[in-house]
Formats: sequence, C-alpha cells, structure tokens
Amino acid sequence: MSSTASTLKAKVGMAHRWTAIFLCIFIVVHLSNQLVALAGAEAHIAYMDVLRQVYRQPLVEVILLAAILVQVLLGIYLFIKALKYSPSFFGKLQYFSGAYLGLFLVIHVSAILYGRAGLGLDTNFYYAVAGYQFTLARLFFAPYYFLAIIAFFTHIGCAVYWVKYKTNASVAFKQAVTIIIAGMVISVLVSSALLGISIRYEVPANYLVNYI
Ligand code: HEM
Repeated sequence: MSSTASTLKAKVGMAHRWTAIFLCIFIVVHLSNQLVALAGAEAHIAYMDVLRQVYRQPLVEVILLAAILVQVLLGIYLFIKALKYSPSFFGKLQYFSGAYLGLFLVIHVSAILYGRAGLGLDTNFYYAVAGYQFTLARLFFAPYYFLAIIAFFTHIGCAVYWVKYKTNASVAFKQAVTIIIAGMVISVLVSSALLGISIRYEVPANYLVNYI
C-alpha cells in the first residue's frame, strides 16, 4: 500500500473509532431499554419515555443520525480495504460483525423513521414486536434482533482485543471473549422478552395492520 493510501486508511480508522465511542453511549443505553422489557411492555415504554427526553431532542437526533451515516460509510470503506488481506480470526470476526451491524443499523433506523413519518405510529415496544406475532415475520425478526446484539458486543470485543493485544495477548483474548459471551447472554434475555417467553403482552391492533 502506498504511504498516502495507508495514511488515509489510518485517518478513516481513527474517525471510525471516535464516532463509534459516541454511538456506543446511545447503543448501550438503548440496549438497557431492551433489557427493561424483562419487566414488561409498560416498563419498557415508561423507560423509553424518559430516554426520549434526551435523544428525541432535534439536535441530539440529528447528530445521532449523522453519526450513524458517517459510521456506516467509513465502515464500508474499511471493509472493502480489508477484503485485500487475509485477516486473523479476530480480524474476520471484527469485519463480519461490523458488516452485519452496518446493514442492521440501516434497516433498523429506516424502519423506525418510516414507522414514525410514514405510518404515524409511536415507535415504541409494540412497534418492535409487532412482527413477532406472525410466523413468517418472526422467522426474520427473531434472528435479526438476536444477531444484532451479538454483533454489537462482538465488534466491541474485537476492538478491545486489538487495543490490548500488543501489551498482553492472553488478557486481550480473555477480555474479548468475556465481552462476546456477555453479549450472547444479553441477547438471549432480550429475545426472550421480545418473543413473549419471559413476559406476556398484547400488541394493539394498529401496530399489526402493516403485516396483515
Ligand atoms: C432487540 C434489540 C432492539 C430493539 C427491540 C430495538 C428497538 C428500537 C425501537 C423501538 C426504536 C425506536 C425508539 C423511539 O422511537 O424512541 C429504536 C431506535 C433505534 N435503535 Fe434500536 N432496537 C434494538 C437494537 C438496536 C441495536 C443493536 C442498535 C444499534 C446497533 C439499535 C439502534 C437504534 C437506533 C440508532 C435507533 C434510532 C433512534 C432515533 O433516532 O430515534 N437498536 N430501536
């Protein structure tokens, strides 16, 4: 790689990291909202109402959506560059979890914006689980959300691995695996609530019309 190309790749990597730190704050809080679903749909909605007072502020939301766009575009650039090399195990995990996360974010955020602007719905817990009420849609939504949470933690785990790797490879490995396993546990818990296994809920009829 020429020195100009490698400088550009390093700068893109740095920008990707800084945007990721900002987005992580929202995503961790957002996932805590999904975990609250274990206490029931009303608890999930009440907690979201509190969080919305911050992230639904127009300025905050514009910055959040812009950060997602920038992150996905930088991620595509880094993914295309990475295709030229044969990465290690953690390298592959990082690229594929990142690719899934990017695709998920584009679909997820578009669906939320469409729900709000196009369907005029309050995009709360019921909007997220409406698809779970239909067998075919459930076959899509169950793995879609389940893998998104795992992909998020895997991507963070890999980033932590590379930061620690140079000083202590064995600690790096343990920390990355711990983060990925934590993601799997969280994903199972959230999925059990969304699927209605750990809690009971009834989706209002206006959320179901999209699927009938
Ligand atoms: C089971 C997992 C998830 C569920 C059930 C879920 C559900 C939702 C819901 C209902 C909203 C609308 C919020 C509102 O109207 O205030 C939302 C927004 C959003 N979610 Fe998720 N989400 C999940 C996972 C994720 C993950 C893993 C990410 C990121 C990697 C993510 C990123 C976002 C973003 C960026 C928004 C848009 C916020 C906004 O501008 O209003 N979500 N999600």
